Amino acid sequence: MKDSDFDIRSVHARRVWDSRGRPTVEAEVALHGGALGRAIVPAGASKGTREALELRDGGAAFGGLDVRQAVAHVNGEIARAVVGLAADDQAALDARLIALDGTPNKARLGANATLAVSMAAAHAVAAARGLPLYASLGGADATLLPMPQIQIFGGGAHAGRRVDIQDFMIVCPGAANFAQALEWTAEVYAQAGALMRARGALAGVADEGGWWPAFDTNEEALETLVGAIENAGFVPGEQVGIALDIAASDFGREGRYRLGLEQRELDSDGLIELLLRWCERFPVLSIEDPLGEDDAQGFARFTRAAPRRLQIVGDDFLVSSADLLREAAAAGAANTVLLKPNQRGTLTETRQCWDAARALGYRAIVSARSGETEDTTIVHLAIGWQVGQLKVGSFARSERMAKWNEALRIEERLGARARFAGAAAFGGGRS
Ligand code: PGA
Ligand code: ZN
Repeated sequence: MKDSDFDIRSVHARRVWDSRGRPTVEAEVALHGGALGRAIVPAGASKGTREALELRDGGAAFGGLDVRQAVAHVNGEIARAVVGLAADDQAALDARLIALDGTPNKARLGANATLAVSMAAAHAVAAARGLPLYASLGGADATLLPMPQIQIFGGGAHAGRRVDIQDFMIVCPGAANFAQALEWTAEVYAQAGALMRARGALAGVADEGGWWPAFDTNEEALETLVGAIENAGFVPGEQVGIALDIAASDFGREGRYRLGLEQRELDSDGLIELLLRWCERFPVLSIEDPLGEDDAQGFARFTRAAPRRLQIVGDDFLVSSADLLREAAAAGAANTVLLKPNQRGTLTETRQCWDAARALGYRAIVSARSGETEDTTIVHLAIGWQVGQLKVGSFARSERMAKWNEALRIEERLGARARFAGAAAFGGGRS
């Protein structure tokens, strides 16, 4: 293989459709040596305001969500700028995309345009090397299978605000390997469905495939989740624990939080107290966005008051930004960052956030968005970068299962070399 085999020969984008039936961007990058890479960008619904901009056309078609401009940017300006560049220098390629856009948040070209190209180039390089993407990214060290965080009930913005909390998920610190974590999740997911059916409350699924949250209180959802874990035969908190995404930015700003289901308003300290009570009463091992994205002080107070074992994750709060993570670390806020490539718009910037996290002693979780597709790039990022945790949504619907199944294939391919992040992924579980 010659060096020039990795040079970009052509770039092409098209509009495809995501799991909510909305338009999104797919890009293909072809290299001189003949290799081809392809990637599709996902889309969030409960987005942080400091995320990179996802370019949508506005207007009447598809609720204003069309992506014709982003597609045109890839096929025009971006293609002209990156053809001839070495795709295996991801940092240089992404720097070119960032400079071409020229704004701090990809507002001109769209993060959906830049990320599609950034990811497709990584896939093309892997194909040229004859390697799966995780191995192309991580080499011989890329053997760590992530702890999955899997949604059982969906809520918040993903379920018409039926309940306040967005994600009721489980993690399996007691599982011996990734495949077993999925087996346990399958049992808990089925038991949760059975419990809902038994109370006449089974009403389909939310955006990410979790059961529809037909509950009267947030606590009722938590109780049902513990019941499902027990009915599946697992010890709550030991073998299988709870992970929550509160997504508090969706129901609060400036330190005022409005819990719709319970018809009450809380200030930051009131919400902190409520969440800490839930963490005491239920086997919660991980909690994401407990406070709003504009409530850094609340975040820091929550982090100080929480038990040390609790994983505290910033999603809307940190938007995969190395800079925001450094600020949070200086303030003592959170101990884990969610990594969503489309919050930044290039792989390199997402990777920089992970590098910053490691340097600061933070953990990380690679995460999907609520609008997804068959694209499995994030699975390869989680393993290739040895991040140790992966959040993809529920255990239903193929845009979710495509990811879990891809990780199973990788675990099998690694064979005896495969390691599982296990309880250590989030600091060792409950003890
Ligand atoms: P989103 O939700 O993709 O709709 O932003 C996912 C999350 O909050 O983790
Ligand atoms: Zn979140």
